[in-house]
Amino acid sequence: MTLFLVGFMGCGKSTVARGLAELAGWEFVDLDRRVCQMAGAEDVAEIFATRGEEEFRRLEREAIESLAFSGNAVVATGGGAPCVGDNMERLMALGTTVYLKMSPLALRDRLLHVRVVRPKIVGKSPEELLEYVTELLAEREPYYSRARVVVDCDNISSRVIVARLKYLTRQP
Ligand code: S3P
Repeated sequence: MTLFLVGFMGCGKSTVARGLAELAGWEFVDLDRRVCQMAGAEDVAEIFATRGEEEFRRLEREAIESLAFSGNAVVATGGGAPCVGDNMERLMALGTTVYLKMSPLALRDRLLHVRVVRPKIVGKSPEELLEYVTELLAEREPYYSRARVVVDCDNISSRVIVARLKYLTRQP
């Protein structure tokens, strides 16, 4: 059984996925890391810089396919992954999708601290970042909100979100 956490950059997918996997004794998979391994790249920024976003998205789809026969795993997807082609449908077919929902303001405040390592937001001022997040989230929301489970994450710690999602890892 595979749980796919989806949501905007900075919503806490990796932290929650790692915590949930640990609690359940499941494997933790970071989709971005898997893409980097497949590409032989140090990080996502390197792939964007040397091969471009289109190639990154192609590798990202391949990485999703590589999870088709996983055992019990919690996967942190990249923020754009469910919003490209039919990726969201594919994720929904492969496992249970969970949207970690956060407001543009909360996302902006969290992202202010990590702009450097994210190629899509590097160099933006706080005002530019809020505008960017608001617009891109509006575009992506229709994909994210198709997830089977939607969790409101504003002002809630990752620890509490992990506890709330624990029931999803209990086998029927
Ligand atoms: C992206 C989000 C990133 C990473 C890449 C593109 C996006 O993942 O996949 O930089 O398009 O939103 P995180 O959501 O883990 O930051």
